[in-house]
Amino acid sequence: MMRKYSTCRFARRLCAAPLGAVLLLAVACQGSDDTGGGVGPPPPPTLDTQLRAQLSRWGVVPIGALTPARPEVIDLGRALFFDKELSGNRDVSCATCHSPLANTADALSLSIGTGATGTGSARTLGAGRQFTPRNAPTLLNVALGFPYMFWDGRVSGFGGPPGNSGQANFRTPAGAALPVGLTNVVAAQAMFPVTNRNEMRGEVGDHDVFGNVNELATPDTGQYAAIWSAAMKRVLAINAYVAKFNAAFPGVPTSSLGFQHAANAIAAFEGAAFTFTNSPFDRYIARDDNAISTEAKQGALLFFTKARCSSCHFGPLFGGQSFSSAGVPQLGPGVAPNAPLDFGEDLGFSGPQAQRFRFRVPPLRNVELSPPYMHDGAFATLDAVVHHYNDIEKALRSYDVSQLDARIQPLYRGDDATITAILNSTEPFLRQPLGLSEVELHQLVVFLRSLTDPAARDLSGLVPASVPSGLPVR
Ligand code: HEC
Ligand code: HEC
Repeated sequence: MMRKYSTCRFARRLCAAPLGAVLLLAVACQGSDDTGGGVGPPPPPTLDTQLRAQLSRWGVVPIGALTPARPEVIDLGRALFFDKELSGNRDVSCATCHSPLANTADALSLSIGTGATGTGSARTLGAGRQFTPRNAPTLLNVALGFPYMFWDGRVSGFGGPPGNSGQANFRTPAGAALPVGLTNVVAAQAMFPVTNRNEMRGEVGDHDVFGNVNELATPDTGQYAAIWSAAMKRVLAINAYVAKFNAAFPGVPTSSLGFQHAANAIAAFEGAAFTFTNSPFDRYIARDDNAISTEAKQGALLFFTKARCSSCHFGPLFGGQSFSSAGVPQLGPGVAPNAPLDFGEDLGFSGPQAQRFRFRVPPLRNVELSPPYMHDGAFATLDAVVHHYNDIEKALRSYDVSQLDARIQPLYRGDDATITAILNSTEPFLRQPLGLSEVELHQLVVFLRSLTDPAARDLSGLVPASVPSGLPVR
């Protein structure tokens, strides 16, 4: 069973957010395609009529604009996002793994954090380091307000929409150490990469790129307040940052600035830079019947009906609202305490074995642009993803490691016990083969590609020429 509570919670949130108004409008318009009322049998429903009925049913409505943050806040956030000064060893920025040159991800199945060399898929692990346990998700549309962050949902928030400060109620690994004043769940998320040893913080005894002792690595794991204050001390030692923080937060004395201000600025930048909601499918939702091809419409209809994708990927973002097990192969170093496996979902419940291997149902807008796919980057293409769904047991038992980076192939957990455990946890209705033909599988992929906003294809213009620390941007 899908956990319905999360759906209900999201529905409540939708009604509180600008999206909610649009949803209600769509519901009010439901059935406006009906042509009945005349004499004789009604004509058979057209493809558009059938598809529009499904869009209403699954809450697929146009997305409203974000309330823009002040330019000074976005400017600060952009500098911080690209600045390696935030990492203990001064060698990694947010953009290292969420690069505009790789559509806000890194083109790797599993990311590579501090201590490495190279960029993108040419990035090489440093001696004694390991891959991050999970795939770097795209940040496209991350600020639109889905309530769970990370593949396991360990950061969540059901507060007000971006820009609506003070109302949010967050759940994060930091518990009571989380400072107040975070504007939204994306800002709450931005508190954590700097605390992660593998991604940005580094290990005790590390030296930065200049040979200095890495002081950000000194606090024990879990000493969040100490890490955040060390990171702020670093940033505010740079005059250009003091000026940027003062411009962004004019009411806050420099001595009262905390990492939450940095996180709010980063989130404002993510919203301003990475929101892309003008895909052909958006124009179709806005009632332009000619915005997408017949093939894409056929794929969309399959998505909502025979292929059952919308049971999990529903709503304006086609996901983001619930957790489920889609029978994905396990690979990577795993996540404690279950390493080398990754049990996923971390919502603070302890459940029976059946609850293992559940991950956040990812939103699918612009999904074409951020391969590889799934929590561990197990699939290199959308074609591989739809073939997986068509017969999960068969796909899992014959998983093709050759689609993985050679360095990750040895980290595939393909033993019989693991595969059986994954299958046992998979959503029961997914265990039956879908029986889709190759033509239908292709139509599904054509539909998924119609969710791409063309403006998101080339984001290279977002990369600044330089950042306040003077460290290299790439
Ligand atoms: C070493 C690579 C790396 C760096 C550096 C990094 N991230 Fe990530 N990011 C990841 C990975 C991997 C995940 C998924 C982790 C998980 O789900 O457990 C992630 C998840 C996220 C998410 C959640 C997206 C979602 O849909 O749930 C956001 C937002 C994000 N990162 C923003 C940032 C910001 C902001 C920074 C800089 C402060 C940053 N990241 C630095 C690799 C990285
Ligand atoms: C039972 C719920 C469920 C159903 C049904 C479902 N999905 Fe998913 N989908 C998920 C979950 C959960 C994930 C993430 C799984 C993971 O990473 O382990 C996912 C991941 C994906 C991804 C990868 C996105 C990314 O950013 O990596 C795509 C693409 C996708 N699904 C498309 C589809 C399509 C197409 C269908 C129908 C054929 C479908 N899904 C049916 C739950 C579902």
